[in-house]
Amino acid sequence: MKRIAVLVSGRGSNLQALIDAERKGDLGGAIALVVSNVPGAHALERARLAGVETVVIDHRGRLREDYDRDLLSVLQERHIDVVCLAGFMRILSAIFIRTFGGPIINIHPSLLPAFAGKDAQRQAFEHGVKVSGATVHLVDEGLDSGPILMQEAVEVRDDDTADALAARILETEHRIYPLAVHLLCRGSLRLEGRRAILEVP
Ligand code: GRF
Repeated sequence: MKRIAVLVSGRGSNLQALIDAERKGDLGGAIALVVSNVPGAHALERARLAGVETVVIDHRGRLREDYDRDLLSVLQERHIDVVCLAGFMRILSAIFIRTFGGPIINIHPSLLPAFAGKDAQRQAFEHGVKVSGATVHLVDEGLDSGPILMQEAVEVRDDDTADALAARILETEHRIYPLAVHLLCRGSLRLEGRRAILEVP
């Protein structure tokens, strides 16, 4: 069973979706740890309620690489195989990504490569696209730029608001993130250039 760490900064609804999937036997791995860089993050409460170990590593006043070194030790001490970012509002350093060794994945609320970065749902809405969605991708050294593992489209309606669109995208996130984690933990990941192929035996 792969040991998963989920990194969070805020409300933790994607963490909850992962916890719920694990409870149903649908995650393909075990959430062994939740790390937050924000001490009061609601996600921590969700983890505690689920009986998952939590660690807070506050980023304030820390250099990025020192922070990431501490994060790495916490993950290595607990033999974490897979890292899932779920609303973790920090960019991980190249050292972290190269040293961790296992897959690091993220959920992003747009169809990448469109609308990387913050407020992706609003960016898409204001741009006027007719279709947006959610993306699960591998984390590399760029901003939301790693190989794509899974995507699902969400239609933008004529009478939409940015908030209503974001809410529908979030439902999609909660569906595809556990599914992608399941495939990653149970199958194998092959990279052909930027093309990521998840194969299930
Ligand atoms: C989600 O929209 C996710 O796609 C983005 O940050 C948000 C986190 O929400 N990376 P939550 O903390 O999982 O509720």
